[in-house]
Amino acid sequence: MTDPFSYVTSDNKVCSYLTYLALTLGALQILSWVYSQLSFLYRHLIKKEKDLIATYGQKDTWAVVTGGSDGIGEQFCHDLAEKGFNICIIARNEKKMQEKLAQISHGKKIKTRYVVGDLAALTKYSDYAKIADQIKDIDISILILNAGWTCMGPFASLTPDEVEQTVTINALHPVYLIKALLPQLLKRDKRTGVIVMSSGLGSCPVPGVISYSAAKAFASYLAQGLAVELKDKMDFLSYECGEVKTKLIGKNRKGFHVITTDRATGAGLRDLGTLSVTNGGFAHDLAMRVLPKWLLQKMVNKVSLKTYQKYRANLEAEKKGQ
Ligand SMILES: NC(=O)c1ccc[n+]([C@@H]2O[C@H](COP(=O)([O-])OP(=O)(O)OC[C@H]3O[C@@H](n4cnc5c(N)ncnc54)[C@H](OP(=O)(O)O)[C@@H]3O)[C@@H](O)[C@H]2O)c1
Repeated sequence: MTDPFSYVTSDNKVCSYLTYLALTLGALQILSWVYSQLSFLYRHLIKKEKDLIATYGQKDTWAVVTGGSDGIGEQFCHDLAEKGFNICIIARNEKKMQEKLAQISHGKKIKTRYVVGDLAALTKYSDYAKIADQIKDIDISILILNAGWTCMGPFASLTPDEVEQTVTINALHPVYLIKALLPQLLKRDKRTGVIVMSSGLGSCPVPGVISYSAAKAFASYLAQGLAVELKDKMDFLSYECGEVKTKLIGKNRKGFHVITTDRATGAGLRDLGTLSVTNGGFAHDLAMRVLPKWLLQKMVNKVSLKTYQKYRANLEAEKKGQ
């Protein structure tokens, strides 16, 4: 005769398996949360940047920085010159680069040079191959793909030219310049460090500034993917930073979340060689971890379009008033 309680027993077994599964999944969630909080504290309280010259440099070595003539890129140049790297800037304004390089190298025994290129207008791989050709004689140990530009406003209100420039400088310049320089970088004996300046706006779709947001997501995926593909020879870092006081967003912009260029570059160099993606400074790192991603996206969807619509309307009113 069959046991009348056999079903209860097997149900109980299923129940206890489900309980174990739920407990294990819960424990894993808690462990990953604790790990994430500890690594956050470690990054901001203890972690120091690597000795960049020892890690990447060799005799007579160079850091190449696109958009190194202003803002975050200029600060990267100052920081790396201080550590003994020769500095090469790629940007569009020759006179400005000459002036900035004179300031960057002042009192230091480093060499400098520059390459002129309008990176919002160069749309083909062959354009970047020509730029790469002009720096093929130097040892590039750090490459910072930093030049960027944004035009805020709803997609429908942007001019075709604004969309083209946004995509070209923020997405095409990193992918084509890396591709053009890669054979030279892979021949080096030492590792090469590459920072791609993405943006916090590239970590989720941001309506109201979507062509910039999408182009930065492209740049960020590129860096994170190459960090895996080329891990034997190169360190890639996608830098999804928040607001930094530069001419791009306005040097007078204030707030806890708006950091100075030296804080931004310090955090980027700290994470080069150890992470493949970072939000950088304390305020930006904190902001990206306070809310779960789905809630952040919901809030962004609710407020960002209106904010940038207003921004665009003000800009157009200002232009009309001039
Ligand atoms: N500032 C922020 O809040 C923020 C936040 C997240 C990400 N980012 C990203 O960080 C990077 C640097 O931004 P930033 O704030 O330092 O900007 P910035 O102060 O405006 O400096 C941009 C640099 O790129 C150069 N550049 C601009 N357009 C160019 C072009 N068409 N061809 C060649 N060079 C060009 C500029 O040269 P000129 O000197 O000739 O203008 C300058 O050297 C950008 O990729 C930006 O998207 C910035």
